[in-house]
Amino acid sequence: MSERLPADDSAIPVPPDDPEAAVEQDPAAVAETLRRSGHEGAAHLVARLAAAALESLLHAIDANDPETGAHVRRVAITSVVLARAADQGEVRQHRVERVALFHDIGKINGALFDVMRGTVGLTRSERRLIATHADRGAEVVAPLASFYPELPAAVRAHHEWWNGKGYPRGLRGTAIPFEARIVAIADVFDALTHRRRYKAPLPTGRADELIAAGAGTQFNPDLTDLFLSPPVQEEIAAAQAAQSARPGVRQRGGARSDPRKQAGPRRDTPEIAFRWRATKGD
Ligand SMILES: [Fe+2]
Repeated sequence: MSERLPADDSAIPVPPDDPEAAVEQDPAAVAETLRRSGHEGAAHLVARLAAAALESLLHAIDANDPETGAHVRRVAITSVVLARAADQGEVRQHRVERVALFHDIGKINGALFDVMRGTVGLTRSERRLIATHADRGAEVVAPLASFYPELPAAVRAHHEWWNGKGYPRGLRGTAIPFEARIVAIADVFDALTHRRRYKAPLPTGRADELIAAGAGTQFNPDLTDLFLSPPVQEEIAAAQAAQSARPGVRQRGGARSDPRKQAGPRRDTPEIAFRWRATKGD
């Protein structure tokens, strides 16, 4: 590989008696440190709070546009497989997952929603308006930067191109956050292979050709090679199929008989790894 992929940066343990330091840490690292030092209750609370904050944001995406909610979950699954294939550890995989889940949160906007609801292709001014979602998204998640420092910059950068011709900043190469480079590939692949209001889905083979054509221009070439390698393609297909088939995967819109809830995403909306689940004693 011509570019060295970043090493996994495992979380640094924080002394539980140092709240100032703890607030700058990933909540998962803080919870683990608390658990190891015997503070089970506090560890559980930290983990729940973090999961609740992220799930609330995800519900906001679903409420605004269930199609985007289903898209970001699929992108998260693909992105995590690609991150793992790139030898990234669990901490980095979770960062990638968060960026994937919230990369389009800037689309929660009335004007953008109306444009995206259209059934024909976009005009130039409509494209410009939609392009603002990268900066808008970074602003939405900015308050979470103390806990998830990678989130705002990577959300902002998910439409940057490897050759510097993307937006909003024109970042080039490794100046684009690693998480954003992963999500960029997964995002485009998902958009190509799923129906949009104004286009039919492409077969996987054709989508792969288009992704390959973007290696070195739109996408990080090493990550593109990895994404297109047969074992990774198989793993992605298996992960997507496994999530779709899970009995616990629910229709987020709720009961079909409730007309207010029929706008929910399709049944195959996958679950997410960080989802907090009740355990004994909760
Ligand atoms: Fe986007």
